[in-house]
Amino acid sequence: MKTGKKTKAVVKNNKYPIVIGHSIDSAFVSFIRVNKIPVKKIIFLTDDNVFRCCLKPILNSSSTLSKAQVLTIKSGEKHKSINTVNRLWHSLLKLKADRNTVLVNIGGGVVTDLGGFVAATYKRGIRFINIPTTLLSMVDASVGGKVGIDFGGAKNQIGLVSDPIAVFIGSDFLRTLSDREIRSGFAEMIKHALLSSKSLFSTTQKISLKDVAKNNLFIELIKKSVEYKNKIAQKDPLEKGIRKFLNYGHTIGHAVEALLMNKGKRQLLHGEAIAIGLICETYLSFKILGFPKIQVDAMKKDILLKYTKVRFSKPDIEGIVRLTLFDKKNVDGRINFTLLKEIGSPTFDNFITSKMIRESIEYYLAD
Ligand code: GLY
Repeated sequence: MKTGKKTKAVVKNNKYPIVIGHSIDSAFVSFIRVNKIPVKKIIFLTDDNVFRCCLKPILNSSSTLSKAQVLTIKSGEKHKSINTVNRLWHSLLKLKADRNTVLVNIGGGVVTDLGGFVAATYKRGIRFINIPTTLLSMVDASVGGKVGIDFGGAKNQIGLVSDPIAVFIGSDFLRTLSDREIRSGFAEMIKHALLSSKSLFSTTQKISLKDVAKNNLFIELIKKSVEYKNKIAQKDPLEKGIRKFLNYGHTIGHAVEALLMNKGKRQLLHGEAIAIGLICETYLSFKILGFPKIQVDAMKKDILLKYTKVRFSKPDIEGIVRLTLFDKKNVDGRINFTLLKEIGSPTFDNFITSKMIRESIEYYLAD
């Protein structure tokens, strides 16, 4: 895809442009003009919250885009379902969407994952663009081509890998997020920094999470995070090898998320659970691969300055250990982890015992 003058792809990528700026409206308009995508062929997909805060102002301020069609879904993970997909396929048929239609997904991970899935499957695939509005979707879901829906009570069970034709990341959208949502997305940035390099990790440790929308250093960090995610996903889109690095912190993180969900306790946002997983799995990196202990302690201290510690009871710890056994990365009942030899040196396919997982949660809980 061509990029217009205002559509400078800031993330190097040989497949599709990823544009990052404060506001993305003019870059988006320029992109559709340069690529000769008529507005009548554009269908925005969003959820009811994002429509109000983010899409309506864009449509109202642009005479070009005000004529585009809009489809909305209800916000929330429970709508990332086959029922929503079914309704959207019907809507696309009704709107006479064809192979020249471009679906523009604007929203968080639910909208970009589900919208990408609808686009990739409708008439054997139509083009789609992602405009992420949450920090989590900016640095993770909108890039890398994983699209899909939840099924059978579990997340992301049905899906495929299909790339967007462009991604537009606008830091102005960060103003619409709560501090918790910023922290949630930031955990994935910490993960990318740990996987990527010492220098990126040390900048990530120093950054303040206040006023991130206008903080140029924070925007630079988003760019570095997206660059890392994109590089790995482009090299291994189907997760046969190095894409497994991106699961760092997620084996225990997902188990924590599931435990609190099943108990109906105050739920953690995805990244809040991943922050716990990062501490535990860095401890495992120390135990198994000799990651420097002094750095595990420092990263634990730093993460706990930003994320309140969750107190787990003994039965909670047993619940988390049990849940890690269900992780989809496991092979023959052995619990499979990505671990770090040091910052910037990840390895995948490390098998860990339940005893060691228990010990890592105890390390997280210790004062
Ligand atoms: N979120 C991890 C991945 O895209 O592979």
